[in-house]
Amino acid sequence: MPKLTIDGKAVEAAKGATLLEAAQQLGVYIPRYCYHPKLSVSGNCRMCLVEVEKTSKLVTACSTEAAEGMSVRTDSEKVKAARRDVLEFLLINHPLDCPICDQAGECGLQDYYMEYSLKKSRFPQGDKVTRQKRRALGPHLVLDNERCVLCTRCVRFCSEVTKTSELEVMERADHSFIDLKEGKSLDNDYSLNIADLCPVGAWTSRDFRFKSRVWFLKKTPTVCLGCATGCLIEAHHNENTVYRLVPRPNAETNTWLCDRGRMTYKAVQAGDRLAKGVIKNGLIDLEPALREAATRIDEQHAAAAVLGSPWLSIEDNAALARLAAEALKTENFCFDFSAEQGIKDGILVNKDPAPNTAGAGLVKAACGGLSLEEFSRRIADKRIKVVITEARAAAFIKDALKASGARLIVFAVNRAEIPPEAYATLPYASYFETPGTFVNYQGLKRRAEPAVEAKEGVKPLWAVVNKLAVYSGTSLRLDSAEDALKGINFR
Ligand code: SF4
Ligand code: SF4
Ligand code: FES
Repeated sequence: MPKLTIDGKAVEAAKGATLLEAAQQLGVYIPRYCYHPKLSVSGNCRMCLVEVEKTSKLVTACSTEAAEGMSVRTDSEKVKAARRDVLEFLLINHPLDCPICDQAGECGLQDYYMEYSLKKSRFPQGDKVTRQKRRALGPHLVLDNERCVLCTRCVRFCSEVTKTSELEVMERADHSFIDLKEGKSLDNDYSLNIADLCPVGAWTSRDFRFKSRVWFLKKTPTVCLGCATGCLIEAHHNENTVYRLVPRPNAETNTWLCDRGRMTYKAVQAGDRLAKGVIKNGLIDLEPALREAATRIDEQHAAAAVLGSPWLSIEDNAALARLAAEALKTENFCFDFSAEQGIKDGILVNKDPAPNTAGAGLVKAACGGLSLEEFSRRIADKRIKVVITEARAAAFIKDALKASGARLIVFAVNRAEIPPEAYATLPYASYFETPGTFVNYQGLKRRAEPAVEAKEGVKPLWAVVNKLAVYSGTSLRLDSAEDALKGINFR
């Protein structure tokens, strides 16, 4: 563990740590373009130059190992001058795009220019080397070669993380540019990370570009519910609209996000979003829909059943457990879901497409209930004649429903989720609009936090369950998601 000083402060660096990492330990920030903690070191941008005592030239902090007794300066006049020169060099051919560039507000060139340079360019606009602009590459990205600073983060990401190696640097010197390798297309499952990685506005997301200036966005830390990995994310939103999801890097689960997970926010604002109930195929206000559902349940009170869902939070599953125990007073309930857990592509995407199989398991451990096999058998045998569940969970009992014709009452966020067998559908607020607890495949409890408000009249699932119970003649006394957990003994 080498001991050294950085800007006069002593630090004991980890074995093999670079100067940039040792400085980070002290809270000293060294500017960088090509360095990324999860990619190999390429040391090409020179933005991280620092001065090391008894060394004649400045050295790159990202590629120089910290050594015993080193005395490093990150703030000397020599270092400041080098930063100004590197920026001048990088900006020689950079277009004057800031007013129309989607990266404005979170751009490494803008930020470092303001902080370390403010130098006027000595190169007239007419002498700039021009490159190709606005090339749609792959389903999710647009590349503007003129804005690129050739840090090669995008190239290294494709060769080291996705191992799909679609990109390369073509040509030489100031004619160099990033391009697709012949015969390749940029359609790997993680391509949108490239837009995050690119320190400037060269790669931008086709989905997000020009939708909102980044300084208008508010950030809500939450969790992706696209699969059992449960990646930590930030939802960026403004005026009740979610604009994008970005990763919240963490040591336990994720640095990146998959492209499908990034798009999960679309369901919140989709055209088929449910704000009313659906009976058979007709839209109907929530209260009459609840009354109708409750009437159908009452008709078959002794043969009504509840199926939980691995797509719902622990709290909403707990509300369903209480509906079964306190309102229906039935043993016909089931929280028994099993799915193979684990990363299926070596990066992030889980074998289990549901976000809360483990959380539903906790409700099962606390409340008991039937096995899924027994639950399905009772439907097929017509001992269960009405099933209340979440729309996607109905797939677990599809065959039994088909065989018996049991009546299905589901909770759904979007119309596309409604299974064809559903008799009644009740809308509920998505987990971008209401909080909930989920347990990922590693057994980590993660909290979905509301970023936006649900449409008027659309309530969290536990509140819809509460109303359904009232229409069936019982009060569960649920005033919050946490209330649903009362009386349930989680071990
Ligand atoms: S496109 Fe962006 S990430 Fe790729 S080399 Fe250029 S600046 Fe770096
Ligand atoms: S891997 Fe799963 S949890 Fe992570 S971003 Fe993709 S869908 Fe979401
Ligand atoms: S960050 Fe060190 S050379 Fe680019």
